Amino acid sequence: MLFNRSLGHIMQQLQALFNQAFEALELDQKHASVGLSNRPDLCDFQCNGALALAKQAKKPPRQLAEMIVESVKNLIAAQGQADDYAFDIAGPGFINIKLADSLLEQLADAQSSDERLGVSTTEAPQTIVLDFGGPNVAKEMHVGHLRCAIVGESLQRVAQFVGHKTISDVHLGDWGLPYGKTILELKHQKPDLPYFDENHQGEYPEESPVTLEELNRLYREGNERCKNDDAALEEARFITAQMQKGQSGYHGLWKHFVDVSVQAIRKNYERMDINFDYWYGESDSYAYIDRVAKALNEKGILVESEGAQVVHVAEEADGENPLPPLIFFKKDGAVTYGTTDLATIFQRQEDFAPDQIYYVVDQRQGMHFKQVFRAAEQAGFLNKKDGGTTLPLHIGYGTINGPDGKPMKTRDGQQIFLGGMLNEVFEAAKVLLPTAEDEQCKADGVSQEQLDQLAEEIAMAAIKFNDMKNNTATDYSFDMNQCTRFEGKTGPYLQYAVARINSILDRATNADITAGAIKLSNEFERKLVFTLLQLNDTIHKAFEKHEPSVICDHAYEIAQVFSRFYTECPILNQEPEVQASRLKIVELTKAILSLELNLLGIKTPHKIYTKRETA
Ligand code: ARG
Repeated sequence: MLFNRSLGHIMQQLQALFNQAFEALELDQKHASVGLSNRPDLCDFQCNGALALAKQAKKPPRQLAEMIVESVKNLIAAQGQADDYAFDIAGPGFINIKLADSLLEQLADAQSSDERLGVSTTEAPQTIVLDFGGPNVAKEMHVGHLRCAIVGESLQRVAQFVGHKTISDVHLGDWGLPYGKTILELKHQKPDLPYFDENHQGEYPEESPVTLEELNRLYREGNERCKNDDAALEEARFITAQMQKGQSGYHGLWKHFVDVSVQAIRKNYERMDINFDYWYGESDSYAYIDRVAKALNEKGILVESEGAQVVHVAEEADGENPLPPLIFFKKDGAVTYGTTDLATIFQRQEDFAPDQIYYVVDQRQGMHFKQVFRAAEQAGFLNKKDGGTTLPLHIGYGTINGPDGKPMKTRDGQQIFLGGMLNEVFEAAKVLLPTAEDEQCKADGVSQEQLDQLAEEIAMAAIKFNDMKNNTATDYSFDMNQCTRFEGKTGPYLQYAVARINSILDRATNADITAGAIKLSNEFERKLVFTLLQLNDTIHKAFEKHEPSVICDHAYEIAQVFSRFYTECPILNQEPEVQASRLKIVELTKAILSLELNLLGIKTPHKIYTKRETA
């Protein structure tokens, strides 16, 4: 039953038959491999083993290929499926395999009547914690936290769709030295605030003493001050330690900083349709630190080193470059990023007992995660299954670069704020759309507000697709004009493809055409159906590789193949069966594209108004 669902399963089945045939012919199975054809004009799958084995088998490769085909054909006939496959030997001995149209029709019909479009759910559902936010409070979100949000959200959706349980946590950066520095700066600038009065009695004001803009400035200035002044840095450290211990003035200020910035952070995520189940921060791990320290001590792995308390995590395999120890308590008793992450693993095990934790975090933090994961393993904080421990997974992403090939910054070297960048792309998208004064918009009664909403959806699609079309680990250069285009491998192009399909479907409805069984009548239909049938394999591959780019590639391929189909295969004024079949193929295309875009976190507006033409 399972293998009938997708081309991947058919390929697996063919692979098994080829293996069997190779075994029967006493040929090395290593060369039996069957893959998708790289000459799709000639065949669907191919096996090139005969060429590699000819010498060894002391037979001309074509003759060997014929023997293999004979053997596979017999096996297929024995299964009663002789009519499903056609074999052909090409050139010096390539085995080309083509699926019968009837088989593709049957598969595509089954796919379109399945509510999951033929995508199977996993046989081994897991609970997966996803950590893909990580914005730092006390300042505005910047583009450094864009990729994790985009990729993480997509992985969350894909994992859920294939049947896993996901638990996402934003894991705010809210607990380190930067906040001590910001408090110090505020102390210098507004020393009279009650938070700094040691004799203050009673409650502190409810209202934050600073706005987000002021926080941004204070954060920067505090950093500058400590860069040039060792005594200031020392004081900032002291303030940080006090704040972490709960000194009420500093802690009260810190709370304001978090509240002010979290409001803004939430807005950015909402705007991008990025969703978290939990809004914990590094600070929430604080409550677990004593228990973690106790657990480490019980294992005897928390040791003193130069006044600090550390966990040694180097392993023999590190060779010349042993991994430095994870610093759990600094000399002054303050905790580190390593401490909070280790304590967070402890908390996650206790609260969720996940099978796996994914960290979608900048790949430059690779060493940090190695330290944390090894320490967690030594401490016994990870789930043990089947006798082994599954280490959490750091899915490291590359940087978004500016035109100079370096991580994107403003002209004066500052971080680029995420909100500002989203606005810019929104403006770029707006330029592509007409105003409410446009004839078509007037005719449809579309308001300026609706057009702005459309521009927003196009802008988000542009940014997201542009990001995910690249492999997660690859750096890329951000080019706003390129990513907002309606042509090429872009988000807006795919949204436009769906909108165009909607208009085709609307016209078909007006012409009273209804969809019916798929019957392939030419190569364009066949090619489209063959591409659509790769959905199941695409989604599972994206999940297994943690790569939304796999879905981007497939969606783009579908849109391109569809475009050709659309020019070559009219629906109106055809024989009724042809109309019905083509309509069904169009409906299936729409369903699959919409699903894939949804898994990428991209919205699909029903109709798109552009300055050139409207779909
Ligand atoms: N706040 C961190 C940063 O900006 C990212 C946090 C990622 N998640 C984690 N569990 N360490 O670099």
